[in-house]
Amino acid sequence: SPLSLWGGRFSGGPADALTELSRSTQFDWRLARHDIAGSRAHARALAGAGLLDQAELDGMLAALDRLEGDVVSGAFGPRPEDEDVHTALERGLIERAGPALGGKLRAGRSRNDQIATLVRSYLREQARLLAGGVLDVVTALTEQAAAHPGAVMPGRTHLQHAQPLLLAHHLLAHAWPLLRDVQRWVDWDARAAVSPYGSGALAGSSLGLDPRAVAADLGFSDSVENSIDGTAARDVVAEFAFVAAMVGVNLSRISEDVIIWATKEFGFARLDDAFSTGSSIMPQKKNPDVAELARGKAGRLIGDLTGLLATLKGLPLAYNRDLQEDKEPVFDGVDTLSVLLPAVSGMVATLTFDTARMAELAPQGFSLATDIAEWLVREGVAFRDAHEIAGECVRVCEAAGKELWDLTDDELAAISPHLTPQVRSVLSVEGSVASRNGRGGTAPDRVAEQLTAARAELARL
Ligand code: ARG
Repeated sequence: SPLSLWGGRFSGGPADALTELSRSTQFDWRLARHDIAGSRAHARALAGAGLLDQAELDGMLAALDRLEGDVVSGAFGPRPEDEDVHTALERGLIERAGPALGGKLRAGRSRNDQIATLVRSYLREQARLLAGGVLDVVTALTEQAAAHPGAVMPGRTHLQHAQPLLLAHHLLAHAWPLLRDVQRWVDWDARAAVSPYGSGALAGSSLGLDPRAVAADLGFSDSVENSIDGTAARDVVAEFAFVAAMVGVNLSRISEDVIIWATKEFGFARLDDAFSTGSSIMPQKKNPDVAELARGKAGRLIGDLTGLLATLKGLPLAYNRDLQEDKEPVFDGVDTLSVLLPAVSGMVATLTFDTARMAELAPQGFSLATDIAEWLVREGVAFRDAHEIAGECVRVCEAAGKELWDLTDDELAAISPHLTPQVRSVLSVEGSVASRNGRGGTAPDRVAEQLTAARAELARL
């Protein structure tokens, strides 16, 4: 059949059920531009090997240009009989270049090395775009941190009051994992920039083609060392899916904070109207749907990764058709993050904080007890004893229904002779955060340095 890529050894066409099962154009058509770029590079490799003369190469490239124009304009698209993006584009090329010339392009390549290359080049492009979206979330976080240099808040472990923090310190704690995700995509790109083209179906090409020239033509840094690996491996795709899932998880953790902060009970932050939703029945409601969708879509991104890994597990070398299932999970990851990232950066950028409420709650729950213990250590008391003494302060206060700074001089002295009235110097939130001035700590000077470092990393990436 003129529509099929094979036919020589077949006496009949495929069953309709097979055609329906086999078709992938509904999702792989998004690779069309990359497929055409690969075809141009392959045509040059064929010419380099003497398999196309200059006139044929010119004719082939002109036909590919016309085909690309028609793909971009929508004048050319896949038909139901086209199995995949490669099949459809070969039909389009033959329609434009004629069967004599168009039929030459397939020499020395297989859809197996083609698809492995196209997925990498598509994901390399998308990783750059998505990294930009991640950096926008980081910018929203750093701008919020910069806008609240002195604001304090209760810091929590186990969701219980632990020690006071600067709000900026907490916000930047969400920025660093996202910066690392972008670094992950940058590192990943070095592995993704290796082209499988030239691997053929699995064993390489006999036609004297130069895989490195094709790789360079496509903006890759090298071609694969092993043609079996080139056609059968999908770890590069799975690693992309991991980074996408990790971004999703990191956005979900930001979102969980926002959801809690926006509750009546916390009252730390308010969502902008543009990034919250109402209720169809309860007129007063303002819901954090962006944050909840981020939390939900993180599950979906994890599913994309685990589904792909499950597809790969147990596949024998080399190419197996199961590998066609590598695309939908990562395409879903790309599409999911493409809509999610702008919404999350908008939500973060437009949050307003009730810094007075956060300041009021910061010292509650005896969150300055560690400061008493560390003050005692600076006075020469062993930490083991200091911990006991500070714990006793908490016990006395809890029983009397008061706060640490309400303890009288006599009460302090009764708990321990080491507890002179000077201990009150650390019994304020400002004193507490200022004292945590080791590198990476929450002291205002350290957080200002950290903000500078985060912005420098933003500018570098
Ligand atoms: N559409 C296939 C994929 O996505 C590529 C074609 C390879 N098919 C084949 N029968 N070898 O993996």
